[in-house]
Amino acid sequence: MSGATARTPAHALDIERIRADFPILNQDINSHPLVFLDNAASSQKPRSVIDAISSYYQRDHANVHRGVHTLSQRATDAYEAARSKLAGFLGATSDKEVVFTRGTTEAINLVAYSFVEPRVGKGDEILITTMEHHSNIVPWQLLCERTGAVLKVAPINDDGEIKLDEMFAMIGPRTKFVSVVHLSNALGTINPVRRIADAAHAAGAFVLVDGAQSAPRMRINVAALGADFFALSGHKTYAPTGIGVLWGKAELFDEMRPYQGGGEMILSVTFEKTVFNEVPAKFEAGTPHIAGAIGFGAAVDYIESIGIDAIEAHEHDLLLYAADRLPEIAGLRIIGCAREKAGVHSFVLDGIHPHDVGTILDNEGVAIRTGHHCAQPVMQRFGIAATVRASFGLYNTRAEVDRLVAGLGKVREIFG
Ligand code: ALA
Repeated sequence: MSGATARTPAHALDIERIRADFPILNQDINSHPLVFLDNAASSQKPRSVIDAISSYYQRDHANVHRGVHTLSQRATDAYEAARSKLAGFLGATSDKEVVFTRGTTEAINLVAYSFVEPRVGKGDEILITTMEHHSNIVPWQLLCERTGAVLKVAPINDDGEIKLDEMFAMIGPRTKFVSVVHLSNALGTINPVRRIADAAHAAGAFVLVDGAQSAPRMRINVAALGADFFALSGHKTYAPTGIGVLWGKAELFDEMRPYQGGGEMILSVTFEKTVFNEVPAKFEAGTPHIAGAIGFGAAVDYIESIGIDAIEAHEHDLLLYAADRLPEIAGLRIIGCAREKAGVHSFVLDGIHPHDVGTILDNEGVAIRTGHHCAQPVMQRFGIAATVRASFGLYNTRAEVDRLVAGLGKVREIFG
């Protein structure tokens, strides 16, 4: 493929068995069997996740951390068990390093408000990259407006890789925080976050890694990544929408101010003074998304029953296979040809609007995403308005890549 390095294949997945675990996949769309290649936007849910949520509501629901009665204790146990599963999934040293959020976006906003804002002033710098998702751009722009800090953006090359020398040269005494995506949703690039974190730390800056796309696709060990914070979303990781995780170093969480005020995040309240609860409760104001957390824990169980290394190898095989086949379509150009790449192929077809491609593919039962993928600066960098994006999940097959290519062939026939 255009640069991506081959990896040692793990044992092959039993895809038919896996597909049977996902009820939604077993349907026709526009009289064709569904091919779901929009996993970077949101992945589908295995039956075990759906059942865990359903069972919780049918048997165990009550509010957490608030009752001595049996249901409240069951709900609390299940909620905290999910936190432990996420801690294990991320290689965290303690459950206290796992804060449940609504998703990656809220996790980044939490860090911007609670950790970074009190530490920056006029002229201090926040460093991101050109390939960030809007959720890793806008919170920093808002923070800069409030504080007078300056947003710096590291450039990327024509293959969609960060220009590391230039990025490292941008890290200096005014750099207070570096926030970088692990796996680009628009390009598929895997960034060398360990090297970036080391360079930032050497300058006294702190680091957040946006793991929304990497967490479902590759083994995460937060200690090995070297970051101070890591954010992920449940709904891209075979779990429900509306739940995510912020992992952070315990000592940093301890010193951070709360993000939102309310119930759960306090130890005591008088009109004169509120004493905040300990981490992670300090950052979980209000009744949390209990069912979402339980579903996230079930998704972690599911991923671990298959093996994240096997999932990574399987998706890499699909990526390479698609990279071989997509160029069969005349005028197709892949956007993002990084040597280290996963999960995603973005591409354009000469003379054809991506939305037209998406509509025709949908008629063929093939679901892909078209548009700017919440990464407009990436589109600007490549001088395009939008791309077509096929993104893989653990249940996809080479035969589905063939269906995508056949659908693109129809697009070519129609548009010439
Ligand atoms: N961030 C999601 C995507 O890439 C929505 O599609």
